[in-house]
Amino acid sequence: MKLSYLAVAIAAFALVTGAQAQQPIVVKFSHVVAEDTPKGKGALKFKELAEARTKGRVKVEVYPNSQLYKDREEIEALQLGAVQMLAPSVSKFGPLGVRQFEVYDLPYMFPNQQALDHVIDGPVGKGLFKLLEPKEIIGLGYWSNGFKVFSANKPLRKLDDFKGLKFRIQSSKVLEGEIKALGAIPQVMAFSEVYTALQQGVVDGEENSISNKYTQKMHEVQKHLTLSDHGVIMYAVIVGKKFWEGLPADIRKSLGEAMAEASRYERGIAQKENDDALEKIKVAKTTEVYVLPAAEKAVWRKAMLPLYQQYEDVVGKDTIQAIEKIVAETEKAAKK
Ligand code: LMR
Repeated sequence: MKLSYLAVAIAAFALVTGAQAQQPIVVKFSHVVAEDTPKGKGALKFKELAEARTKGRVKVEVYPNSQLYKDREEIEALQLGAVQMLAPSVSKFGPLGVRQFEVYDLPYMFPNQQALDHVIDGPVGKGLFKLLEPKEIIGLGYWSNGFKVFSANKPLRKLDDFKGLKFRIQSSKVLEGEIKALGAIPQVMAFSEVYTALQQGVVDGEENSISNKYTQKMHEVQKHLTLSDHGVIMYAVIVGKKFWEGLPADIRKSLGEAMAEASRYERGIAQKENDDALEKIKVAKTTEVYVLPAAEKAVWRKAMLPLYQQYEDVVGKDTIQAIEKIVAETEKAAKK
């Protein structure tokens, strides 16, 4: 009699553990932008590749548009293990105490995507990821959303046009300095709140990639857009350290490979997504699009140049110099 109870217990235990073992590992991937954006599509590509490469042993649940968490909350949620993966803008690591990433926010630091790619795929990019590990976070890759432009409800053609305007920014000290250097007033705000703040006049303008402006319908509440290409929107794809190191080795390898492929895909579509968004904004005819002439761009650049020295203690003088060296080498090679 006792033996049969034991046999039943063993069988039940085997069933439970077998079932648990067959349960897929769930990766909750939360982000704040729309699905039809470089990051939105990158996240779905990662889902597709991760589930295929792990033959269903991993299930990726993507939550776009701040559905689960807004900017600041999402990093806390990652550290608590409430979500497993994020791709925040590198301009949002300040509140985490890792302001060195704001080196990417220095205006006119990157003349083109190629120079940026050389920096993020090299020792500078990897070195910055190392700074996240003491925060129980691991960086898996960098994604891109192209160059930033300014918008407001009045034309932005001369530096004077910025005087006294309120601009929404991400939670970056360097961006705060950038807006002040233009003579405007910075206001940190979560991405999901920007449209309403522009609509209600809480802020007069903001800076972002064209893809973000279009997919958040900001062109409907901003009469003027200036193509200034004055900075970049860049993402760090991050995971919780405990979660990542707790994965079976073969799963971690497959997810790493899926992420590498999804990163190539995301960075490959970023420019076209932004070009297409610009065309859609032009067709919508709700915003006047102005191309900032090179001569005026030089004036804006000069006005913001003191930021490089002003923030060298925050982001690291060595890092600035390392980036400038890679950019110069990329430019030189491109001229050959
Ligand atoms: C922003 O807050 O403007 C952007 O970082 C949003 C995003 O993730 O692209």
